[in-house]
Amino acid sequence: MKTVQDYIRTIPDFPHEGIMFRDVTTLFSDPRGFRIAIDQLLHPYAGQPIDKVIGLEARGFILGGAIAHQLGKGFVPIRKKGKLPGKTIEQAYTLEYGEAIVEIHDDALQPGEKILLVDDLLATGGTAEAGIKLIERMGAEVVGCAFVIDLPDLGGRKRLEGLGMDVHALCS
Ligand code: PRP
Ligand code: ADE
Repeated sequence: MKTVQDYIRTIPDFPHEGIMFRDVTTLFSDPRGFRIAIDQLLHPYAGQPIDKVIGLEARGFILGGAIAHQLGKGFVPIRKKGKLPGKTIEQAYTLEYGEAIVEIHDDALQPGEKILLVDDLLATGGTAEAGIKLIERMGAEVVGCAFVIDLPDLGGRKRLEGLGMDVHALCS
């Protein structure tokens, strides 16, 4: 029986030379692969009080939307700068291969809400940390950070655990 990892392919030298890009489109396009990924991502959080699911652009939207639907909760996007139409708060961060700013609508969360943060991949943890900072600046609480892939050599898990986060990844 194929595992989640078996559905993921690696594209060398994308988007830059030397980067081994872990491509989850082949996981998402397979009906069984997508279903087991969603089921396994939400499994630790199924009985927990969660108010909203937040997905990080772009592949976190695909996972986060399906997880929010399954949990019967709302979905909130954290997007790259300039994409959200309403008033936002923003947070700068660095990536494995660049720099960026992410934003959230300033009325998307209420203080005290419990949030499940979702993305496809944890590398340096810079994107997830920026998301966590945005969520916490709004007075909400991250109860879990769920990823399909953890790249342990890049230190993201340690970085997030150092912030007191619960990190759940399906493969590394
Ligand atoms: C990828 C991935 C994560 C992030 C992880 O997104 O989907 O969001 O990088 O890297 P980090 O742990 O080092 O921050 P990317 O920035 O390529 O954006 P995209 O999903 O919009 O293509
Ligand atoms: N984001 C950061 N590093 C990545 C990688 N190696 N594969 C896919 N997405 C990434």
